[in-house]
Amino acid sequence: MTEMAHEQLQSKRWDQLQEMAHSHNKQPSRVSIRIHQLRKAFGSKEVLKGVDLEIEEGKTTVIIGSSGSGKSVLVKHVIGLLKPDSGEIWVDDVEITQLSMNDLNEVRKKFGMCFQMAALFDSMSVMENVAFPLREHTKMPNAEIKAKVTDVLAKVGLVGVEHQFPSELSGGMRKRVGLARAVILNPSIVIYDEPTTGLDPLLTEDVDNMILDAQRDFKVTSIVISHDVGSIFRIADNIAMLAHGEIRFFGTPSEILDCPDPVVQRFITTFG
Ligand SMILES: Nc1ncnc2c1ncn2[C@@H]1O[C@H](COP(=O)(O)OP(=O)(O)O)[C@@H](O)[C@H]1O
Ligand SMILES: [Mg+2]
Repeated sequence: MTEMAHEQLQSKRWDQLQEMAHSHNKQPSRVSIRIHQLRKAFGSKEVLKGVDLEIEEGKTTVIIGSSGSGKSVLVKHVIGLLKPDSGEIWVDDVEITQLSMNDLNEVRKKFGMCFQMAALFDSMSVMENVAFPLREHTKMPNAEIKAKVTDVLAKVGLVGVEHQFPSELSGGMRKRVGLARAVILNPSIVIYDEPTTGLDPLLTEDVDNMILDAQRDFKVTSIVISHDVGSIFRIADNIAMLAHGEIRFFGTPSEILDCPDPVVQRFITTFG
């Protein structure tokens, strides 16, 4: 490609991103998670070097950053799967880094997790996969469980697949089953770790819509780790970029387009 063609393409893409960036929710809302000066090293490798971040209630915050920058490590702290070396994490009005196992389990009920590969149980039907958290954490009678599962599956756009097995479904449908399972206990916060990695552009858009629908239909606060620049601009209310163990950028999609920091610019123009 000639340099001029490349520049034209770049500027067309910029316009598209700018357009997508306008449709989002700019009203400030209550802070649901507050991370203060979070530090974590593994041996001599310092991964988080004083991360400060606020996650607003009811919004979608997308965490970006190059591979190995500590995005997964950061969200694992938020759900208490990792303990920091220092720093604080407030979920609503509870500081979670010092909690006992029991108290932490209480806080974890607020979270739903959607992993990259959906992580469904292959030997269980869709019904049993989605019912699993209800069977583990509640004493709900069987008939009620079935009705609830059918209802949540319908909300994520799946009807009549209860008796199928994960291997019989498309990749996009499996993601939806994973989402249904993540929201079945009515979490207030859903975390997606690279939900679109490895998907083609159409499926990626499908998963983005699923995330937006879940935010609207279940009124959840969403935290999404993503590499895909298209996705980021479609779904984000706020974007946080992690680099060298710190939050290098925090702001809206429009603000990231105007951010002069070359590290931030390189990310937006290189990925997706
Ligand atoms: N449990 C662990 N023990 C040791 N090192 C880890 C552990 N988890 C993550 N790391 C290291 O922390 C860094 C950040 O990892 P991660 O958060 O998974 O990156 P990403 O931004 O790609 O999600 C990587 O160098 C990784 O090897
Ligand atoms: Mg990761």
